[in-house]
Amino acid sequence: ILQEAKEQLEKAQTMAETEEVRVRVLGKKGQLTQILRGMGKLAPEEKKELGKAANAVRAEIETLLEEKKEQVKAAEKEARFREEKIDVTEPGEDVSLGVKHPITITIEELCRIFMSMGYSIAEGPQVESVFNAFDALNSPPNHPSRDMTDTFYIAKDTVLRPHTSSVQIRTLVSQEPPIKVIAPGRCFRCDTPDATHSPMFHQVEGLIVDEGITMADLKGTLDSMAKQLFGSSTKTKFRPHHFPFTEPSAEMDVSCFKCGGKGCSICKGSGWIEILGCGIVHPKVLEVGGIDTEKYTGFAFGVGVERLAMLKYGVDDIRLFYENDMRFINQFK
Ligand code: PHE
Repeated sequence: ILQEAKEQLEKAQTMAETEEVRVRVLGKKGQLTQILRGMGKLAPEEKKELGKAANAVRAEIETLLEEKKEQVKAAEKEARFREEKIDVTEPGEDVSLGVKHPITITIEELCRIFMSMGYSIAEGPQVESVFNAFDALNSPPNHPSRDMTDTFYIAKDTVLRPHTSSVQIRTLVSQEPPIKVIAPGRCFRCDTPDATHSPMFHQVEGLIVDEGITMADLKGTLDSMAKQLFGSSTKTKFRPHHFPFTEPSAEMDVSCFKCGGKGCSICKGSGWIEILGCGIVHPKVLEVGGIDTEKYTGFAFGVGVERLAMLKYGVDDIRLFYENDMRFINQFK
């Protein structure tokens, strides 16, 4: 039995084969177990002899089994190491990273400029009350922008905000002066998409309220913004305009960054490009926030992000921003 077991163990390669040998010899029905069981019928002398021999064989086989198990275990570990070995000199696989959308890049650029001037960022919902979108902004019930043909109504008193100016109201009712915020976000208007119109677009709103804020602060701030966006030689020009929520109101033009004011296709020969609406916050708007209009004044502005991005990057169709064609987006890496 011992000889046979030795030979079999010699051949065994795996844990399972080793275990097979153990079961065959030492298991419940194993060869040695059978012998020990059959000993009952023998004479006491014989019993003693056989028992001694059998136990010696068992002990030896158990030792052999132990040794073999160690060997097999080591060999298996060795094999696994060989299999799992990695070549640390092999070049890594190329991970392709996404790119930022040009609208995101432009919003971040505006945020960076205003944050460096001490503004913080405010946010408001895209689904807005008619009160915050119009009434509180001094837009009378008959104002054309309130029309169903211009603004998306969700319900009688709820709209998809047509401008980020509603965040002005949210800020005025929740903060005390001095207030200095910008509010980037999506806006919606009932426009049929074409090269320059989209029913969804982005604005960055700005609002400052403090003691002694004047038109000079407005002009200085927005002129600095224009120079940071389009280069230090950029000039700005303010033209009178009308918004219900500012008085006086203006639109700001920047000198064309392409032709420097001589006239080209981008500025349509005029040398100037209109980029935003702005003005001194109307006292009626400040009153909604319970702000003392004798003590405080403020200015506000709203920039169209798509328009800015189109000018900056020379994009001639606003719809390109929403198609997510990677051949377009990848150019803004
Ligand atoms: N809300 C105006 C628009 O959408 C822009 C604006 C904002 C004008 C703030 C003045 C002050 O056209």
